[in-house]
Amino acid sequence: MTHILVTGGAGYIGSHACKALAAAGYTPITYDNLSTGWQDAVKFGPFEQGDLTDRARLDQVFAAYQPVAVMHFAALSQVGESMQNPGLYWHNNVAGSLSLMQAAVAAGCLDLVFSSTCATYGDQDNVVLDETCAQFPINAYGASKRAIEDMLRDFEGAYGLRHVIFRYFNVAGADPEAQVGEFHQPETHLIPLILDAIDGKRDALTIFGTDYDTPDGTCVRDYVHVCDLVDAHVLGLNWLENGKESRVFNLGTGTGFSVREVTDQSAAVTNRAVPIVEGPRRPGDCTRLVSGSTRAVAELGWKPTRSTLPQMIGDAWRWHQTGHYDK
Ligand code: UFG
Repeated sequence: MTHILVTGGAGYIGSHACKALAAAGYTPITYDNLSTGWQDAVKFGPFEQGDLTDRARLDQVFAAYQPVAVMHFAALSQVGESMQNPGLYWHNNVAGSLSLMQAAVAAGCLDLVFSSTCATYGDQDNVVLDETCAQFPINAYGASKRAIEDMLRDFEGAYGLRHVIFRYFNVAGADPEAQVGEFHQPETHLIPLILDAIDGKRDALTIFGTDYDTPDGTCVRDYVHVCDLVDAHVLGLNWLENGKESRVFNLGTGTGFSVREVTDQSAAVTNRAVPIVEGPRRPGDCTRLVSGSTRAVAELGWKPTRSTLPQMIGDAWRWHQTGHYDK
């Protein structure tokens, strides 16, 4: 059995990655402290509870399973929280990743796939954000992810820890079989909040800002289906297994949709009205984040197949109606 250590395997993206890894013949070992993840989401391999900053526990898990590679998803990821409490982000994300990388090197596990973000680019309006763009994060979350990217490059130079870095745009949707899905507490992401509003779990969806310089005045984002996203991770793992050079890839489709386009499509897919309230801008939001998305397709052979708005909303809606986790 080929073991892959999946940090954050109990979270939204990590749990989908575990399913994709198992389908590709690997055994995912979930390492998660359950601070934001769910034990119920660990369905495709063993679970080891632990914190990234707990080096002794990491050493124990590396020794027990001898993974051939790490997929590193575990992180705090709320922009607003990162601005109010940056120390939490530098400790959990950066110090935690340092501890993980040191443990991986000590164990001789020298391939790592890292979950980074378009938030490392910052607010570069009207620019197609490809992997060569300079990174100017405007919040502590993005800064923490950029710091980890830097650390990975240093660790490759010094210790031969090879890496594939994926910079995600807006991840959406759920496993079409609804075995795993998106479940954050509190929820801050657009599509699950729209679905909550549709079925009365909240009064309305507040649109954060209608005066942006976009065709309909609302922010534009590039949405990518979580299953397409994790497929790219398996390709990234294969890339490293095949001895290719460390590389950065954006994961987005290259097409942007406004908040209003997403609410309209949600109404169409669910055949239900979306109660909407117009509110002020949310601090820290960029006007437009759209991926320059050709590299992953050209070099990794990535073929997104589910990343249309109706498919993402439909899969999220199915999960919303049938799935939930208990701690
Ligand atoms: N939005 C609303 N109302 C809500 C929630 C969101 O109008 O109740 C809008 C936001 O203003 C934004 C869009 O919907 O324009 C998407 O918002 P999300 O919170 O779903 O996602 P973000 O665009 O904020 O997040 C993305 C990535 C993060 C990254 C961040 C950087 O998912 O990883 O961009 O800004 F950190």
